Amino acid sequence: MSRQILVTSALPYANGSIHLGHLVEYIQTDIWVRFQTMRGHDCRYMCADDTHGTAIMLRAEKEGITPETLIQRVWDEHTRDFAGFHIGFDHYYSTHSDENRELASTIYLRLKEAGLIEIKTIAQLYDPVKNLFLPDRFIKGECPRCGALDQYGDNCEVCGATYSPTELKNPVSAVSGATPVHRDSEHHFFRLGDCETFLREWTTSGSLQEEAANKMQEWFAAGLNNWDISRDAPYFGFEIPGAPGKYFYVWVDAPVGYMASFARYAADNGLDFDAWWGANSRTELVHFIGKDILYFHALFWPAMLKYSGHRLPTAIYAHGFLTVNGQKMSKSRGTFITAASYLDQGLNPEWLRYYYAAKLNGTMEDIDLNLDDFVARVNSDLVGKFINIASRTAGFITRNFDGKLADGVENIELIGAFQAAADSIAAHYEARDYAKALREIMALADRANQYVADEKPWELAKKPEAVYRLHEVCTVALNCFRLLTLYLKPVLPKLADQVEAFLDIPPLAWDDAQNLFIRHRINEYRHLMTRIDPKAIEAMVDANKQTLEPTPAPAPTRHAEAQAHAAQPAAATPAPSTIGIDDFARIDLRIARIAHAEHVEGADKLLRLTLDLGELGTRQVFAGIKSAYAPETLVGRLTVMVANLAPRKMKFGMSEGMVLAASYPDGHQGDAPGLFILSPDSGAQPGMKVK
Ligand code: 2FM
Ligand code: ZN
Repeated sequence: MSRQILVTSALPYANGSIHLGHLVEYIQTDIWVRFQTMRGHDCRYMCADDTHGTAIMLRAEKEGITPETLIQRVWDEHTRDFAGFHIGFDHYYSTHSDENRELASTIYLRLKEAGLIEIKTIAQLYDPVKNLFLPDRFIKGECPRCGALDQYGDNCEVCGATYSPTELKNPVSAVSGATPVHRDSEHHFFRLGDCETFLREWTTSGSLQEEAANKMQEWFAAGLNNWDISRDAPYFGFEIPGAPGKYFYVWVDAPVGYMASFARYAADNGLDFDAWWGANSRTELVHFIGKDILYFHALFWPAMLKYSGHRLPTAIYAHGFLTVNGQKMSKSRGTFITAASYLDQGLNPEWLRYYYAAKLNGTMEDIDLNLDDFVARVNSDLVGKFINIASRTAGFITRNFDGKLADGVENIELIGAFQAAADSIAAHYEARDYAKALREIMALADRANQYVADEKPWELAKKPEAVYRLHEVCTVALNCFRLLTLYLKPVLPKLADQVEAFLDIPPLAWDDAQNLFIRHRINEYRHLMTRIDPKAIEAMVDANKQTLEPTPAPAPTRHAEAQAHAAQPAAATPAPSTIGIDDFARIDLRIARIAHAEHVEGADKLLRLTLDLGELGTRQVFAGIKSAYAPETLVGRLTVMVANLAPRKMKFGMSEGMVLAASYPDGHQGDAPGLFILSPDSGAQPGMKVK
């Protein structure tokens, strides 16, 4: 049955550029939305810029422009960056809109009617020079706990203490440098504590991930504080109805921005707003967010919706943070990478989409963008495995069969296996476990490559009597390629467009997986995707390096540490030195199946192996075993590999591990052949740990 789903991503602030950390969420959401649409559901993706607050007001003032001019400029930048990464919003709006003002006011008035708004006078720090109440982040001073200098008004970055700004010692205004004074002011509070019974029930009703639901219990245990939802003028935002000089705190009208974005979209597209947002709505409402804003989305927001007579979220999906090379993004290291700088280097946005998808598993765990691994993984999976299938077979269809696929195929088994995977891949996408979906898809790609390697169409093409077989093999391979494209389409929408044009087919939908691709004329194959040039990555990092911050001594990256720890044979050590059991335990030895093996052009000693590690995916490894093995004799064999060796950049590509082989220390000895790769007894399975 077709579902109606309204999906949102968190609204980015209108005072900064989109960076690769932001993109984790937009890419995660976009993949999910595209998947739902391919399944035939009516899925609408809403977002907007989050435009209000003191920070935006002050930034505009500093630039000598109005906040309206600033937010328009940032909206232009954001929408350009998102389009660059193929984020397909149905509507990207602004919280500074008439619809948002109207909806925020209505919600506030209904909460007031329900007795959930309380007005209280509180004392806050005030900048007497700027005539401004100071938000926590605009006050600096000494930590009341450890005395560290130059700490923000809400928490200490040295000892981790959290406090209220009025507790800071020797506070100064970060805006004017003046010493703030205490000043009383009336504030409007949302009585969150009164919503506790409802919230306790809602947060355990299945709309939250388990980890998030557990976090809620901690918050309930700590007690729900009433929420200060007003700010005094001057403030860039919406004035509270009936309260001149008081404005909605930015976090009030930000989530209402989801509704407002939809309201405008609904008006422009003839949809019924109440059918989607009314208390009895039967549609689904799904919010994708970062784990840092869970409190706002899982407590304040459902309470605001409930007590203003609106529908509740169906699901809130929180993801973790992004680290780059194992560390927090850093401007001095050049790893605080803007979306625009990535695109400016000519890097393909689908490479990043693929890499993030390969890491996202639907939990709140952080994900790491390891730049070496990024290059290795994309080159090996997308170019080496996926595109390879078409590039090795399509030419024969064009040259030998006038572009026409066979009328039927005898070998239906392989295609059948690909078709049978549709449901399980769909279940992984649905559960946002894209990592699992891609592992399954890449395992299929390995099978297709294996089939092509076994059937050797380039040799069949030389034998006139094998023409029928050649037609069959290339048709089977292109069926596999079409199905892989279909399964990858939520992640790689642009590439899928290009493949659809090449195969001359209408846009692929999920149900098309069950159709056979025969009796059809395809267009000539043209190169679909290039490999990542590591130099472009270096250039991107350089372009993002900012020397404004004091540059710390270069910290070893996780990659460098791994290299330092990897067991390297000591060059001229006659006898092995001893190591402790802990050293040994650091080496992750795994059983691998050699899925593919081939000669490497220009290399005397190396074979390029594709190793299948079962659940752990596949790896490309260059092994110096050419003198002892013909590639075809290796395919299908089990062997043992070092799975946690840091990827090494070699002349011919990245090597992502090492295959274990026995040899005499000095090479050949007498007549004995020189090398023996290790194999387990029968029964061992790819991915098993060797200990
Ligand atoms: O944390 C942020 O970046 C906020 N601008 C997110 C707002 S999401 C929603 F509530 F609008
Ligand atoms: Zn401190």
